[in-house]
Amino acid sequence: MTAADARSDLVLHVNGTPYPLTLDHRTTLLDVLREHLGLTGAKKGCDHGQCGACTVLVDGRRANSCLLPAVAQEGRRITTVEGLADGERLHPLQEAFLERDALQCGYCTPGQICSAVGVLAEAADGFPSYVTPYTAASGAPVELTPDEIRERMSGNLCRCGAYPHIVEAVGDGWAGPEGRADRDARSGRVAGGGAV
Ligand code: FES
Ligand code: FES
Repeated sequence: MTAADARSDLVLHVNGTPYPLTLDHRTTLLDVLREHLGLTGAKKGCDHGQCGACTVLVDGRRANSCLLPAVAQEGRRITTVEGLADGERLHPLQEAFLERDALQCGYCTPGQICSAVGVLAEAADGFPSYVTPYTAASGAPVELTPDEIRERMSGNLCRCGAYPHIVEAVGDGWAGPEGRADRDARSGRVAGGGAV
């Protein structure tokens, strides 16, 4: 096989837009997003499936884009952090990350937010995690307690250690604005401020 044989023409659907591409079969989805399409939200942290910085959604499920051959993603619906907002309106999880100050340098944040979007869908669809009680009804929506969030987000590393606020932000995304007020009251936290 020559090098030219190792390329294919395909169309990738990213954030609702079809992109015709000719790609070397070895190209990862992460490199296509960043180097071919200019979508630099997904970050290259380890390039080995270890850190979660490159997390995107593929057909609504989270995935490490550094591990996915791009040519195998034809026909899939790929969503990056750039595709989460609705026009000028941020996704509720993006709002929650801002309100909870759930980032420091921000390098891991796009992956954290995409992963959190996937977590909310998995919990709503009744996917159990390692810490889900074995007595939970099979297939029923799972309550995202802080332990559930920590377990389910454990594939997304943050070198700045913003984990406590990330857990709160994901919890807000799950509970919604009213649930957030309840959670603040229960934890003794002042709305918009730190724990008291
Ligand atoms: S860059 Fe993909 S998991 Fe680290
Ligand atoms: S905010 Fe800096 S790595 Fe997470």
